[in-house]
Amino acid sequence: MQMVDVHCHILPGLDDGPDTMDESMLMAESAIADGISHLVATPHSNSTYLFDYAQVRRIRDELQAKFRDGLKIATGCDFHLNPENLGSLRADSSPYCINQKNYLLVEFNEISIPPSMDKTLHEIQLAGVRPVITHPERNHILRAHAERLRKWVRQGCFVQVTGGALTGGFGQTSQKDALRWIEEGLVHFVASDAHNTRTRPLRLQPAYDVVLDRFGEEKARALFLENPLAAFEGRELPHVPEVEQELPSARRKRFFFF
Ligand SMILES: [Fe+2]
Repeated sequence: MQMVDVHCHILPGLDDGPDTMDESMLMAESAIADGISHLVATPHSNSTYLFDYAQVRRIRDELQAKFRDGLKIATGCDFHLNPENLGSLRADSSPYCINQKNYLLVEFNEISIPPSMDKTLHEIQLAGVRPVITHPERNHILRAHAERLRKWVRQGCFVQVTGGALTGGFGQTSQKDALRWIEEGLVHFVASDAHNTRTRPLRLQPAYDVVLDRFGEEKARALFLENPLAAFEGRELPHVPEVEQELPSARRKRFFFF
């Protein structure tokens, strides 16, 4: 099965991904063996890791040269929504976007997600950038307040869950929430968020099999190939389920009794 991975840390020496080009090459080989045809190298940009676009591109070119046509490697960013990053994004969003098109991976921290985030996400959208919320199933604030995620999705944001979470690698709660959100139509992408060859490998097939088994082939192809490829190429996503409006609790009760 052909797959496209829009979120992985494969470039060496930039963040908490691999340290050496040798390990990066092993990760790329594992991706090819897994059926991945396109991947997006998305180094962190946060208070710990500086994102230097020229350096990201240089290292990407070096890795791509070793694989030629066997694997298409683009760049993006695992973008943390902090004030400094937002300033850089306003100045020029393309270095951070997936394959320099218009989808942006957005990660939240686990300490707080202020209410102002709704407005921030909206501003990003108004600037023509499409936010993709990364791994909410691993964020305890979003797990406890899934209504915020639903609101962002209704507002036009997209959601990516981690392949490893679907196979139970991040615990039962993350797995349950990721599966429930797929069922609810809140999820648009599954990605590896790979960091190395050992604990966070560059593989998607086991997660593909879980989705195939639970939700069927159309959903599996949407989440692992058709939506990710569209984002890679900067097109509209072909699979965006309708998400129901949340009813205020009073109306919901009335609806229930009548
Ligand atoms: Fe990541």
